[in-house]
Amino acid sequence: MPVNRKNFIKHSAAALIGSVTFNKAASADFLLPVPALPESMGIVDPNDEQYWQLVRQQFPLTKDVAYLNNGTMGPSPYPVIEAVRKGMMDCDMFGNYGGWEATSGKLAKFVGANEDEIALTHNVTDGINIACWGLPLKKDDEVILTTHEHVGNALPWLNRRRVDGIVIKVFTPASTADETLNRITALYTKKTRAVAVPHIPCTQGQILPVKEICKWAKEKGIYAVIDGAHGPGMMPLDLHDMGCDTYASCCHKWMLGPKGTGFLYVRKDFMETLQPYFVGGGSDNAKWNMALKPIPMGEYANNAHRYYGGTQASGLYKGVDAAIDFIDSIGIENIHNRIKTLGKYVQDHLLSFGDKIELITPTEERSRCAVNGFRIKGVEYTKFYTMAAENKIRIRSVAENGLNSLRVSTHIYNNKQEIDKLMQVVANALKG
Ligand SMILES: Cc1ncc(COP(=O)(O)O)c(C=O)c1O
Repeated sequence: MPVNRKNFIKHSAAALIGSVTFNKAASADFLLPVPALPESMGIVDPNDEQYWQLVRQQFPLTKDVAYLNNGTMGPSPYPVIEAVRKGMMDCDMFGNYGGWEATSGKLAKFVGANEDEIALTHNVTDGINIACWGLPLKKDDEVILTTHEHVGNALPWLNRRRVDGIVIKVFTPASTADETLNRITALYTKKTRAVAVPHIPCTQGQILPVKEICKWAKEKGIYAVIDGAHGPGMMPLDLHDMGCDTYASCCHKWMLGPKGTGFLYVRKDFMETLQPYFVGGGSDNAKWNMALKPIPMGEYANNAHRYYGGTQASGLYKGVDAAIDFIDSIGIENIHNRIKTLGKYVQDHLLSFGDKIELITPTEERSRCAVNGFRIKGVEYTKFYTMAAENKIRIRSVAENGLNSLRVSTHIYNNKQEIDKLMQVVANALKG
């Protein structure tokens, strides 16, 4: 059936009607993917609310609450959930085993890497640990991090400090990309071995100038190991162009895939440097044999599979495949533009309160996208978090690193009315 605007709307309306029956029965009726955009429509207008309303119908996410917390958990749309169910059925009905390896190729294409550079993991923390522990670091070697780390990028390095005596140096991200870069380069000493920063810190969602950071790291001969929890799905990515040595991410948040799935990109040439420690089925060339004397081990796999081993959740990875298809059907550029528009809408609203609100996310074009952090003068962040929850709005309070702030993150299932609702609560909080 040719896809035109009318069909698109009809198709998606069917998805809406069907979604009502989701809890009742495993009907396939509602499991329609977002139709591909017709060529003639070209790039979606990020302000085309009708289009985004149709996209919203693809999510079972409750409508009782305004969910503005994608930075913590990215809810999946129906096609992803269905792909997981089907993937599990294939496994559990027919005894099919494996098949998850194919997801590496799909992920690679999605993030601008090669298939052999993608290791499957369960979350960002897995990938960061593989990178952190695999680096050849010794006592007194210095690693640069931010004062805005998530526990997932803080603890592995702090643990390495405890075990191996490395030194952690920190900087606070600045309000411009240039100044952020200056703060990083100012920390450099002869002992600096790695820069281990988030692409987008969880605290206030500012986009760090990772390409420049990686370029600088290369010039200095130090490792660039990036925490990429928030990159994929928020913006188009080309990891080769970024120039990082490793990039750890998850497949839910902005990718909207199943929870408990993730990946680690390891630049092909970097595999000789990054030591695998966690190995098992698939991470070698199968030359080991415990019955021979001496017992041979063989070589590591000639790809990023050397960094993970054993049985994976094939159903979940079918969900990752479906999440990438879902994003592709809308277009990552369209998604990026839409969520950047919503992020700007949040910023403009917050700025309209004047000095009563402290916006902690930069307004600089290249440093902002879908996540905003702020404080309300005279209102405890925990108090406001509770007020928002009472008004059926889910945001995040940011207690880590003593930031004591609030965070709003908006994805494609959100709309301006939900943001208006939040801003009304801000206005009420300011009235006292
Ligand atoms: C910037 C950042 N790094 C790391 C993590 C840890 O992710 P995971 O729970 O998938 O390991 C998160 C999770 O929110 C994050 O936001």
